[in-house]
Amino acid sequence: MRRQFSLAVAAVFLSNTRFAWAAPLDTTTVQARQSTIYVPFYDATANKHTSPARGWNSFGLQANKALYGPAGFDFNDYHFAQQCDNMVVQDGYDYICSIDSGWSKNGGDKYARIEPDESIFSWFGFKGLADHLHNNKMKLGVYLLPGAFESDKDTIIEGTNITLGSVLDMDQPWFSLRRSFKWEMDGVQQWHDSVVKYLASLGVDMIKLDYLTPGSPDAGQDLPTDTSPSATKFHNAILNYGNGMRLDLSWKLSRDAPYWSVWQNSADSLRLDQDINNGGQQTFTSWSTVQRAIENYRIFINQQALDSSRQGQGIHIRPDMDNTYYANPESMSGLTDVQRYTMAIHWIGAGANLITGGDLTHMDDLGKMLMYDDEVISVADFTSQWPMRPLNPDNTPNPGGSNASQTQAWISGPNGNGTAVVVLANYGPDEGQAGFGNGDKDNKLVTVSLNTLGIGESQWFVRRVLGGGGSGGGDHDDIGVATEKIESWLGPNESVMYKLEKQ
Ligand SMILES: *[C@@H]1O[C@H](CO)[C@@H](O)[C@H](O)[C@H]1NC(C)=O
Ligand SMILES: *[C@@H]1O[C@H](CO)[C@@H](O)[C@H](O)[C@H]1NC(C)=O
Ligand SMILES: *[C@@H]1O[C@H](CO)[C@@H](O)[C@H](O)[C@H]1NC(C)=O
Ligand SMILES: *[C@@H]1O[C@H](CO)[C@@H](O)[C@H](O)[C@H]1NC(C)=O
Repeated sequence: MRRQFSLAVAAVFLSNTRFAWAAPLDTTTVQARQSTIYVPFYDATANKHTSPARGWNSFGLQANKALYGPAGFDFNDYHFAQQCDNMVVQDGYDYICSIDSGWSKNGGDKYARIEPDESIFSWFGFKGLADHLHNNKMKLGVYLLPGAFESDKDTIIEGTNITLGSVLDMDQPWFSLRRSFKWEMDGVQQWHDSVVKYLASLGVDMIKLDYLTPGSPDAGQDLPTDTSPSATKFHNAILNYGNGMRLDLSWKLSRDAPYWSVWQNSADSLRLDQDINNGGQQTFTSWSTVQRAIENYRIFINQQALDSSRQGQGIHIRPDMDNTYYANPESMSGLTDVQRYTMAIHWIGAGANLITGGDLTHMDDLGKMLMYDDEVISVADFTSQWPMRPLNPDNTPNPGGSNASQTQAWISGPNGNGTAVVVLANYGPDEGQAGFGNGDKDNKLVTVSLNTLGIGESQWFVRRVLGGGGSGGGDHDDIGVATEKIESWLGPNESVMYKLEKQ
């Protein structure tokens, strides 16, 4: 992929991205600096996955019915497959076709297990959809809530003589037809086992467990105060009966003790934010919400990177920053092209789940590039192990700091082989939830020294993988060898993503 570098190539792009050709810094100083900058990394998850999920989720379309017409979509298995058949899959990664709420009946089967609503699966059938996806190297995801249907209270839990009602917690509020459990009682684990066995037998590969608490604020429902044991029970069931199933937890969950450990010990990914889609509107999302989701990731990764008690150990759960919405042009996505680049760059840089909520039957060329370009995906492979962390650029009050800032620098890695990814951004004015307060609309020269990034001890070959669609310059360009700093002009809302290799 990497082209031979020549000075001529670098000169062409100097107007976009500049490098200083200074002599290397004093090594002692650099090492002292280097040792203060911690490099966070991901590790295998509790359910033994080593990469974040990729794929498609139905919620963007189903929650924005105004887009049914343009997308030619309806909430049924024919259209789920029509969307997912457009996914370009890569060996070694799980590409999930994830069906959100609405796939299931409002009551359980003979063992009080949630079951598919056949009216939604009249083309392939539920198992037929799973088979169709599996035959095309894809996987199937479904949506669950903690607890069981109260209407099933007289049902006997599979393999036991225990009635479901005897283990439901009637002191906790009723929500979405369900009751939470008396988590310590005999029968509760067996019920979760039974559900997971059944879903595995139908070909399900991922459970999105939503409305979990503590978290899930502003649900519009009176939720039980603590359903975190449900993540543990599903995890136990998945290890025994889940056949490699993934567990995704949602949303905006408490990361205080002891919950951070509960989530890390049970699931593969953790939603950091509330829903980021524009429910009920003409477009999938909006820039103010994308700014908020990026800010939530900044807080998340700082918790891991700045807390000395968390350093030195891999992060066992990947962030779920919610669905991506950069597959489609502005008329559908609600994002300008530079905003779409910024969303892609940040979700990739975070090593987050790359599950799109977009309309895969109407991608434009930019959407296809951001979703499926080989080089972009190879960067995603790297960041899936090395999450980017913020180090405020040199033109901010606190270079190397980790605060919210209108202009930001991020670095993922370097790994032991001398590969790193650097992102520079100008988020434009704070639309209300970006964390940095007001900002201006100017083009900005964003500068970060290699020292600030903690990599000043070496020279680095720099390739611009994504230029951001504006002032940042073109995509897929070799830039040259950086010896001192990396900088780029960036317009409002614009980001640029570089791949670095140690020389
Ligand atoms: C259920 O109860 C019957 C009758 O007492 C007993 O024979 C059986 O072993 C019990 N089954 C389980 C799984 O406890
Ligand atoms: C940047 O975002 C603001 C707020 O959404 C918008 O008004 C402006 O047009 C955007 N500019 C670009 C180039 O995306
Ligand atoms: C900057 O970040 C530090 C550590 O993350 C935090 O304690 C401090 O409150 C932040 N300052 C501002 C102004 O946000
Ligand atoms: C270095 O690269 C090799 C080959 O790709 C890989 O197996 C190894 O894990 C890498 N080492 C580190 C520390 O990332």
